[in-house]
Amino acid sequence: MSISYALEVENLSKRFGEEPFVIEGLDFQVKKGEFICLLGASGCGKSTLLNILADLDSPSVGTVRVADRPTLMFQDASLMPWLTAGQNVELALRIKGIGKEQRRNRAQELLELVHLGSAFDKRPHELSGGMRQRVSIARALAQEKSILLMDEPFAALDAITRDFLHEELIGIWKRTGLTVVFVTHNVREAVRLGQRVILMSSKPGRFIKEWDINLTEPRRIDAPEVATLASEITDHLRNEIKRHG
Ligand SMILES: Nc1ncnc2c1ncn2[C@@H]1O[C@H](COP(=O)(O)OP(=O)(O)OP(=O)(O)O)[C@@H](O)[C@H]1O
Ligand SMILES: [Mg+2]
Repeated sequence: MSISYALEVENLSKRFGEEPFVIEGLDFQVKKGEFICLLGASGCGKSTLLNILADLDSPSVGTVRVADRPTLMFQDASLMPWLTAGQNVELALRIKGIGKEQRRNRAQELLELVHLGSAFDKRPHELSGGMRQRVSIARALAQEKSILLMDEPFAALDAITRDFLHEELIGIWKRTGLTVVFVTHNVREAVRLGQRVILMSSKPGRFIKEWDINLTEPRRIDAPEVATLASEITDHLRNEIKRHG
């Protein structure tokens, strides 16, 4: 594996049992420190692909090489309801074998990074959806892996909270040099975040087109350049969805 790649996927296909292939013939590389967005209609195989990249499932055909074991962040925050925000983050550190005192300090630091420094002792039910997602980001970062896979992490949030989390995520990405693979069916979100946007077809899921995004930061989701490119990509996505009735 080339040292500059975080992920390399070769001729990857996946089917469940005797069903038709869900994804077929995927070939791609993600450079270390790159932020890519995978965009595709519901059911096209995005989560299937992320699960394989995270080694939670295995390919039917093809190979995946990773420079580091990725962290997968799901659509719902999936925090332990009986633990506080801080303890949820600490849990990831405990699994790494970090001692009690250091764990607490590090968890506090990570919560501050996502602007939740004062929420350490709050339980998930006392937090809003956006706050829970931020705890979930802090918990993902606690694992200190260099590759973060995000499966529609902000889909359930309102536009303003999402906008705020986009900014925060980009800030963290820039500061930490993480490699991010971000899955979404929201075209504007993909254009807002990615350095590269890859569009997937459905049945079977293949990569049909990709765009390098050269927009300057800070990028706003409602900026005219974002909207123009998003509408071009939406046309492709719409055709793709039409093709499948
Ligand atoms: N464990 C499984 N067993 C059988 N079929 C599965 C399994 N997991 C996924 N599938 C099928 O694979 C296809 C792709 O599902 P997947 O969850 O990857 O789509 P997705 O692109 O993530 O969709 P969404 O945007 O709605 O989350 C679907 O038809 C689904 O029914
Ligand atoms: Mg999915």
